[in-house]
Amino acid sequence: MRIDILTLFCDMCSSVLGENIIGRARQAGKVEINCVDIRNYTNDKHRRVDDKPYGGGMGMIMQAQPIYDCYQALCEETKTKPHLIYMTPQGKTLTQQRVKELAKLDNIAILCGHYEGVDERVIEELQPEEISIGDYVLTGGELPALILADSISRMLDGVLSNSECFEEESHFNGLLEYPQYTHPAVWKNREVPEVLLSGHHENVDKWRRQQALSRTLKRRPDMLEDAQLTKEDIDFLASIDNE
Ligand code: ADE
Repeated sequence: MRIDILTLFCDMCSSVLGENIIGRARQAGKVEINCVDIRNYTNDKHRRVDDKPYGGGMGMIMQAQPIYDCYQALCEETKTKPHLIYMTPQGKTLTQQRVKELAKLDNIAILCGHYEGVDERVIEELQPEEISIGDYVLTGGELPALILADSISRMLDGVLSNSECFEEESHFNGLLEYPQYTHPAVWKNREVPEVLLSGHHENVDKWRRQQALSRTLKRRPDMLEDAQLTKEDIDFLASIDNE
């Protein structure tokens, strides 16, 4: 999988992408992530990429030409049309389900908006998928693009080691994750739940499933509507709901 991040702030992205699990995965060639500087594609002799909004108003708008030419150059270089995503608070909210689908693609380009937005005509022309990371507004699309690139990369084969395996994690199987503990067994008078010390794997699995269910019921009941629940799960939820 190749991901290209189209941005005016390459340094902001590169530093994050060089670290930790994603940095390691890139080095190992499990995922290719490039930062492309949109400014390199402007036709303006002063290298400008933004201008005042028509009709007046605050802030600056990113111009269509540099973004369009930047994406076209990428298409030429890769000899494909990478699936283009525009990070914007106007987009559809990102879900783990969409992350999983995107992780199946070979080429993705992520456009980071900045200033007060992007000239609408380049959105009409390129028709990107518009994605938001949540109902709040950031100063630009770089952090959202990094979140998207991270969430996609960790789904790719060989990126996570067994110990980082994502099978059990929150949102992977539609439930929030159960609580986790490590040494010491007692800390500030708080004990690790006894079942986890028992070595009885079946009981541990059952306890974890019930914790995941009760957490989800308490914190994110909306998620239970889509979760795959067994009869035992449903009975358990009914029993705590009646408490
Ligand atoms: N740019 C600014 N805020 C954003 C958000 N919430 N999601 C995606 N892109 C954004």
